[in-house]
Amino acid sequence: MPNFIHVANISDIPPGTAKVVDVQNVGVALFNLEGTIYAIDNMCQHAGGPLGEGTIKGDIVVCPWHGYRYHIKTGKYLKNPDMSVACYQVKVEDGKIAVSVSP
Ligand code: FES
Repeated sequence: MPNFIHVANISDIPPGTAKVVDVQNVGVALFNLEGTIYAIDNMCQHAGGPLGEGTIKGDIVVCPWHGYRYHIKTGKYLKNPDMSVACYQVKVEDGKIAVSVSP
């Protein structure tokens, strides 16, 4: 059952930027795409690079270490969906962002 935890405020993440937060010991990368917040696992499937520090190109984040590309809205690794990262549920209420890392 989802367990939403407040992790940031929407004002912390202007559109087109990202922020890394810790949710119950899981590193989560939050992205603001045109005002909508998305959350995926921060750890790249290749060698653990920090996706929240990657370059955002449209709906894609490019891992800062070796360039793996993931779809921000789904966590899918573009070349091989079997190496995708987790995508987490997000709720935004009154400018506060809450994330659940539980299914
Ligand atoms: S750690 Fe992300 S591409 Fe290598």
